[in-house]
Amino acid sequence: MWDILLRDCHAATMAGGEPYGAIRDAAIAIENGRIAWIGAVRDCPRGEARHVRRLDGAWVTPGLIDCHTHLVFGGNRAHEWEMRRQGATYEAIAQAGGGILSTVRATRAESEDRLVETASRRAQTMTRQGVTTVEIKSGYGLDLENEMKMLRAAARVGERVAVRVSRSFLGAHALPAEFKHDRKGYMDLICDAMIPAIGHCRLADSVDAFCETIAFTPDEAGRVFAAAQAHGLTVKLHAEQLSDCGGAALAAKHGALSADHLEHLSESGIAAMAQAGTIAVLLPAAFYFLRETRKPPVAALRRAGVPIAIATDCNPGTSPVVAPLIVLNMACTLFDLTPEEALAGMTRQAARALGLEGEIGTLEAGKSADLAVWHISEPAELAYWIGADLLADRYFQGRSDKEKPA
Ligand code: NIG
Ligand code: FE
Repeated sequence: MWDILLRDCHAATMAGGEPYGAIRDAAIAIENGRIAWIGAVRDCPRGEARHVRRLDGAWVTPGLIDCHTHLVFGGNRAHEWEMRRQGATYEAIAQAGGGILSTVRATRAESEDRLVETASRRAQTMTRQGVTTVEIKSGYGLDLENEMKMLRAAARVGERVAVRVSRSFLGAHALPAEFKHDRKGYMDLICDAMIPAIGHCRLADSVDAFCETIAFTPDEAGRVFAAAQAHGLTVKLHAEQLSDCGGAALAAKHGALSADHLEHLSESGIAAMAQAGTIAVLLPAAFYFLRETRKPPVAALRRAGVPIAIATDCNPGTSPVVAPLIVLNMACTLFDLTPEEALAGMTRQAARALGLEGEIGTLEAGKSADLAVWHISEPAELAYWIGADLLADRYFQGRSDKEKPA
């Protein structure tokens, strides 16, 4: 017998076929936290369900997946933002010891418990907008103890909040102050000590790096990738955000899950990504917040068949944004995605960017019952409204937010 049968709803399965993979007048059966059956209500086998829930014509989509965030951090950078409003650039602030390094100081000073508390609040905000999976990066500790503290804190967010957490180790985010004159020393620490320890303790699913003129070179990122892969970890890269360093091609060469940002991506980078099946993760809120003008080459990515995912990049420096639905709108208004591409970018393609496409990202039998139920009359509304309260309910692993905790 099914646990739950959802009726009187429409489903945007995002699984192909019709636009949005739409099924009008749908039924969705849930059993043991998974989707047991989904289809048109008239085709529904007469399985019995312990609970039948009528959704008043709401739309059901896969739970949203935010596949690129820096949700765990200490402090904030509102003051730097004020300086930027008076003309200082992100790069100049970073070079003067601010930027990422100021968040490193604040994060090192924070207890693990306090990091869990502040990040959980941000994660909770995201769940109220339909998010059921969030990726969280380290990268503000930059020594073994503090990177591990961040990754443990990220896991604990998933114990406190009804959300799946995927973790990425981002030791190669910035050169810490104590290694200012010893780049090689810091690379050795990442590759010979941090990655082995994090791999051994299973503290991360993936390894990321920031490949940029103000951060790490492609050679350095390549070394990080080799160490990660030697320890069985998948890789991804912050690439081509502020300049074209060839990061995307490097990521593709290593079979990376994704290359992220990509405003300055070249034709050859696109070709390499297409060939390797690397997902392009676009981050329109960082583009917006930095008031960038150069857009990622969306039309060329589309032509080359590179799948596009969309994420918030929530972080204190370039995207203090905990509003995934607004980011869907930005993907359309700033980067010219269609509303359907934007929604696919935060569901099906985001799942692929995390290597979780077998488990989440579409509404299909067998996948985890991670669903968002929306007060909308057509799916394009998800990217259309700005700041509306659209979520009617959310199911995480088959459990409704409206159910009392066991
Ligand atoms: O994704 N690009 C590098 N990392 C972050 C910014 C982090 C920060 O400024 O604190 C990003 O934009
Ligand atoms: Fe980022």
